[in-house]
Amino acid sequence: MPDQKSVVADDVVDLLLIQHAQVEEQFLLVIGSTGETRRQAFDDLVRLLAVHETAEEELIHPLSRTLRNDAVVDDRLAEERQAKETLTALIDAGVDAEGFDTGLLLLRTAVLEHARHEERYEFPHLRARVPAERLQRLATAFAAAEKVAPTRPHPGAESVKANIAGGPVLAIVDRVRDAVRRAADGKN
Ligand SMILES: [Fe+2]
Ligand SMILES: [Fe+2]
Repeated sequence: MPDQKSVVADDVVDLLLIQHAQVEEQFLLVIGSTGETRRQAFDDLVRLLAVHETAEEELIHPLSRTLRNDAVVDDRLAEERQAKETLTALIDAGVDAEGFDTGLLLLRTAVLEHARHEERYEFPHLRARVPAERLQRLATAFAAAEKVAPTRPHPGAESVKANIAGGPVLAIVDRVRDAVRRAADGKN
């Protein structure tokens, strides 16, 4: 995963845009690699997406609902659900499965289109209508969510499929959700 410590963001919209770029970059790393490198790159992609989308679902979409942007939020949540299903299928199959490349490209198209939709239809409303100070505080909560994602297990310790299949991904989502809620309760 890209080094989060080097990322400097003024507010949560900046942070989201940076993460969208990181997701795009991580897809390229998976597509362009093979073998163990590819397994690790895919593992990082899963973690990055789990953190990003969970934090959006907890913090960003609810905020958009308060701006009466419900139709846009409903569409984004549907896209996120669809992407999660494709991602889960890829995790279950594993990077060596026949059809993984095709599935990965489909997921990439869906995730990047979803990100463009957020950038076009959702984030501008946040910028225009949410006080800057609140957007800055949300960036802090978002950053807290990133820190709770577990680091990649030591290579060779267990199979990568076992590391990321099912349970651990759900565990990341649960931890992110808890961290975001704690941060949001305390600071927002
Ligand atoms: Fe999203
Ligand atoms: Fe996003």
